[in-house]
Order: sequence, then C-alpha cells, then structure tokens
Amino acid sequence: MFLALPFLLPGIFMSSMSANATAPADAIEQRVNTLLAEMTIEEKIGQMSQVNGGDSYIHDYLRDALRAGRVGSVLNEVDVNVVNELQRIAVEESRLGIPLIIGRDVIHGFKTVMPIPLGQAATWNPVIVSSGARVAAREAASVGVNWTFAPMIDISRDPRWGRIAESLGEDPYLASELGTAMVRGFQGDDLSAKDTIAACAKHFVGYGESESGRDYATTNIPENELRNVHLRPFHAAAKAGVMTMMTSFSDLDGVPATANEYLVNDILRGEWGFDGFVVSDWDSVRQLSIHGLTANDRESACEAAIAGVDMEMHGDAYLNHLAQLVDDGKVPLEAVDTAVANILRAKFRLGLFENPYTDPNDFPPFADADALETAREAALQSVVMLKNEHHVLPLSADQLSSIALIGPLADTPYEQLGTWIFDGDPRYSVTPLGAIETLVGDGVDVRYLKAMETSRSRDTSAFDEAEALAAETDATVLFLGEEAILSGEAHSRADISLPGAQAELVGRIRASGKPVIVVILAGRPLTLTNIVDEVDAILFAWHPGSMGGPAIADLLFGIESPSGKLPVTFPRMVGQIPIYYYQKNTGKPPSPETIAHIDDIDAKAPQLSLGMTSFHLDAGYTPLFAFGHGLSYAYFNYENLTTSTSEMALDGSITISVDVTNTSGITADEVVQLYVRDLVGNVTRPLRELKGFRRLTLAPGERVTVDFELTADDLAFYGRKMQRMTEPGEFHAWVGSSSEAGLMAEFRIVGER
Ligand code: NOJ
Repeated sequence: MFLALPFLLPGIFMSSMSANATAPADAIEQRVNTLLAEMTIEEKIGQMSQVNGGDSYIHDYLRDALRAGRVGSVLNEVDVNVVNELQRIAVEESRLGIPLIIGRDVIHGFKTVMPIPLGQAATWNPVIVSSGARVAAREAASVGVNWTFAPMIDISRDPRWGRIAESLGEDPYLASELGTAMVRGFQGDDLSAKDTIAACAKHFVGYGESESGRDYATTNIPENELRNVHLRPFHAAAKAGVMTMMTSFSDLDGVPATANEYLVNDILRGEWGFDGFVVSDWDSVRQLSIHGLTANDRESACEAAIAGVDMEMHGDAYLNHLAQLVDDGKVPLEAVDTAVANILRAKFRLGLFENPYTDPNDFPPFADADALETAREAALQSVVMLKNEHHVLPLSADQLSSIALIGPLADTPYEQLGTWIFDGDPRYSVTPLGAIETLVGDGVDVRYLKAMETSRSRDTSAFDEAEALAAETDATVLFLGEEAILSGEAHSRADISLPGAQAELVGRIRASGKPVIVVILAGRPLTLTNIVDEVDAILFAWHPGSMGGPAIADLLFGIESPSGKLPVTFPRMVGQIPIYYYQKNTGKPPSPETIAHIDDIDAKAPQLSLGMTSFHLDAGYTPLFAFGHGLSYAYFNYENLTTSTSEMALDGSITISVDVTNTSGITADEVVQLYVRDLVGNVTRPLRELKGFRRLTLAPGERVTVDFELTADDLAFYGRKMQRMTEPGEFHAWVGSSSEAGLMAEFRIVGER
C-alpha cells in the first residue's frame, strides 16, 4: 500500500507535474556550489556511492548509511512505499537532506514491454522508439524510479554476443538516431516533470567488440575505428543531453573502461563537454583488480576516481578508500568535488530536491490503452519479412478453413518479452496463438501443437503428429527461435543457428507438402542457412514484447504490411562474423562473380587458380540477409535519383532526391535509405555508410519525392591524426530499400582543405 505521504509530509508534493522546469542552468550551478561547500568529504563520497536495494525492505545498515549521508543512489528498489521511505530518510534524517536518485534497468519497458531494443531498431522509426521510452519512463516513474540504465548504444556487429539484443544494431548513424530518440523519450523536454526519468547511455565504450562475442571478453579497437564507429552514438547522446553515462565492463586495449581516463575525462568531458555524471557498471570499480590492472580495492578506487567515474555502482571501493586517497594526495579533492557536482547537478535537474516523493495516483495505471497501443505499433513496425516466396503471405482468413500453428514459441507470454525485463509483466502479453484465434474467429479452425518443450529440445517424438497436422490443415505457421534466456547479459552463443531439433521440425513440415511459413522470435540474428530454402516465408519478429501476438497476427493475415528493416547483417555462417555492411574495400576486393565454391575445387588445383580476393571459399563474401533488408506486401519503385549540385563546397550542403512510388494496391510503409561512399580518403573509407533514412506511409499509387540534405559535416570522418575532416573528392550516393540499393548518383566536394 502506498503511504499517504502528501498528508504526512505537507508541502513536500508540488502540484504541477514540473518542479523546476524553468530553473536556469546558472541557478542550478549556484545551488550545486552552495551545497558542495557545506559537505564533508564523507558526505561527498556518499553521493558517489550507489547501493543495491531491491528487497522491498530497508535493512538497518542501509538506514544508518542513509542517515549518515553515505548513499547517493539506490538501485533496484521498485516498491513505491519503500522508495518513498528511502527518500524520506535521506531528505529528513540526513544532515544535508540530499535526495536519492533511484536507478533501475528499464531497458525496453517497465510493466508494458516494447520489443527488445534490437527489434525497436528494426523499426527505423525514431518516433515509435521515443514513444516506447516515454511509456517506460511513465510506468517506472510511478513507483519512484527516476533513472534508467538505457539506452544501450554499443555498436554490435557480433550476433553471438547475447547483449546484441539490448543494442540498436551495427550502424553508428542508426544507433545515434534511435539512441537519441530513446533519450528524448525517457527524459522528455523537462527532466523535472514527474513522468520523465534520467537516461544513461551505456556502455562507454566498445563493449560490443567483446572478442568472439563472449560477454565481458577483451576488446581491441584502434582509435580511428573507435572514433569513426563506436564513439559516435555516445557523442550524439551527449549532444542530446543524456543525463548520465555508464562505463563498460570491458577492457579496451589494455585499460578497462572504468579506469580509462582518456575515454572518460579526455574525450567525454574534455572534448565533448559532457556535464552529466558517469556511473561505473555493477562493481566494475572493484573488478579492476580482477582484470589485473590494480592490486586491491584502494588502487581500483584511485584509478576509477582519477579516470572520472563519478559514481560507483554497487561496490564499496569509494566508500572504503576514497577519503584516505584524498588525504594521501593520491586523488585530488577537485576530482571528488567535480564528481559530486556532476551528481548534484543531475539531482537538481531532475527536480528531486523540490519533489523527492512519488504518488502513484498521479500516474495512469500500468499497461493502459496508450501503453499497449504503443507496444503493438512498435512490434508491428519491428517485424522484418526476410522472405516471401510465391506471395505465400499474407494469408487470407476467408480462404482458409483450417490453420496449424506449431512450435515452441507460439504461446509463451513470458518468452516473447525477451531479455532484461525485470519488471515486465507477462500477464499483459498477448501471444500469437491468442491473437490469431481472436483475429480469425470461428471461421477458421486453429489447430495448435507445441511439438517441442523448448526451442532447445531434441525430443522429436511429437514430430509425426506435427507433420500429420500440417498435412491435414490448409496452412502451417511455425513459431520458432530462441527463448529469452538465450540472449542478454552473459548469454552468448557460439552456434547461432536454430537450437535443438527445430531445423528437423522444419524439414518434417516441409514433407507435408504444404506451404511452410516461419515466424522467428529471437534475441539476435540467427544463421538460417539450413532452413531458408526449406520454407516459403520468414517473418523475423525478434522478441516482440507484450503486444507481439496482435502485431504478428495482423502481419500474417495482411491487415498490415511488414515494414521492419534489418538493423544488423545476418551471416550465412558463424565463420563470417564480423560481417557488417560498412566494411572496407580492401586491396583485393571480391567481385559479384566471386562465389563460394569449395565443393567444386579440382584436386591439385593450383594455388592461384581460384582468384586472389577477399572471400571465404565456403561462404563467399555476401551475407544471408543484408543490413537494411526487409520485404513488404507492397511494391515500391525508386526512380529519378538526383543531386541538387554536382559540386558541393567544403562548407556547403547537397540535397539528394529520389521519387518513390507505391505501385501496389495496398497502403504500406517503406523505409527509404541513403548510403554514401567517399571514394578516396585520408584513411580508407567504408564501402557504404548510412547517411539518412525516412519511414513513409504510401497509399496505392502514391508517389513522393524524398529529399535528403547532407552538409559537409555529415560527410566528415576522423583521419590519420584523429582530426575530424571533410575531404574534397568524389562521392557516390545510393538510395533504396536496403544497403544493397542499386540506384546511384555521383557528386564531388570541391575546395581547399
Ligand atoms: C550490469 C549491466 O552490464 C548493466 O548494463 C546494468 O545496467 C547493470 N548491471 C545494473 O543492473
């Protein structure tokens, strides 16, 4: 039960949703400095320490620590009464009354769950991504959470890595656009409003490059690659005003991110002027000694504080050692003051001093109509149709008398939510089975068979029944993939094909002679090479969240047309990883004629006879499905690609335009994508780089001209000396419906550099 705090603590609640919407930055700085001047070193270090709550109970040691001002933040407590009591102790019983910032992993929803972030990235729609974060913020804020550890914007090019599910994919531009959309959704226009929460861009930086996709493994990223790829979404988030950033668990070129002064102090603060605060990852300060960078917690605290890590998440290295380190002159007091100022600034901006308490009655109920509709729309736009042979989809409820729904993931309210759903409530889930039954009504006989206990099951004893069912019904939809537990933190896989006996199940259904439609629910790209030719259609639905069922049902039956586009490349085989669309040309590029031909090599073939280019003998050089790929029930014609000028000045801009026509008889969405190649550079440049995209809804026959404006700055990159530069020279631009778009225009940048 919620405590009637408004009555117990008169004057504490503000009547407006916004506590200090208009507080100017210098007024906040003044308040920060005044408060800082009053603080003891212990109170300062308290602000820099985050403690795990989450027991729906306040232990005596935590009460004492709060009273002593030795806690700046609590994470994982989501019982609003307990949260309010924590705040009350901090505000009323500590000497300076500094409120807590309450953190929680609200990654893709709170009670109402949106698709996993990788699925949201497949929408290529900043508006729906932002709306999903807004719903999550509102639901989380209603229990007193005022800080989420999202968005996760690690560039992720390795589908073995379980955390790819939490990411926005492989491309720095897409991750920047969608990551900033998430920040805007969580933080809103006014961070002090009751229904907004602070966002946290994580993990700074390079975590996605964990060797072999094994979580927490070492990363090695050359600085040019770091700046041109991995840092970009973080810089975009900083510019968008993200309130906090989290350092990564990973060890970058020998220096773990949590001790990396160059990354945190020099780049993030020095170059970018970030004025929010930086939190470590869970216990990652103390883990510096496990990495072997330091010998003990004291050294770890020293390294992290000097690097610029303002708050230690769940660890006590700061609490136990920082005061002495300052005393011994190992950590300058200014470093501590800067850290505390960064944290206090965030608390002031959040309006916590004015309004530390939460009244759930100020909020709509969980999973209200708006939340569920946002989740449905996000799921709908996230589903990618990989294949649709002979237009087997959409199904027509009028023409079917029966349908078989087979597979381990057709009716799993929990699994469809995906990874990182601490608070997600499966009671709000609508599964594909439930949604299809509702959609087709009594007119179609829906026959369901799970056939496998889990996606990993190797028991094939139900496969005869499955095959017979497929033969008896007019169409079969298989619901395959992987459960939520197979992706996420510390859940990497080395083999990313469909687990268990699923491929065999596909073969048995194929043997029924009926069309085979597969819906895949998964937390990562899968290698589908062994089933792709066995099936007629594939809808890749990721883990689609609470409303995945209705979205999938509407797509299968053509109420809506698929419009998701891959935010990450799908390899043919694991051995191709890393494979991503913006690879370099190399000195020996493959050509379209280059094919995998290991089976055709003659015995004793001379070494040079196969062509000396960059490819795999057994996989070629192309992916199974390219970045940006995604089919529709509609047809879109691209023509008249033009540039506003053939020569753009070094300080100028260019508009690239294309006409897109919906030549089909249905209304549908299309994501128009612009890619550019800089032919010659100070450092070698990628074959293609995404530079713009637009999601459009086009009615039958509708034609629109899409304009993309690019400034010289949009074409800038980091050169050999890590200088950001736009170079004169030749550029190619492609516009189309995937990274394989063929319609090309040329232009030049002219001028003296
Ligand atoms: C560890 C994860 O790496 C991070 O992303 C998360 O926010 C924290 N734990 C808190 O749960």
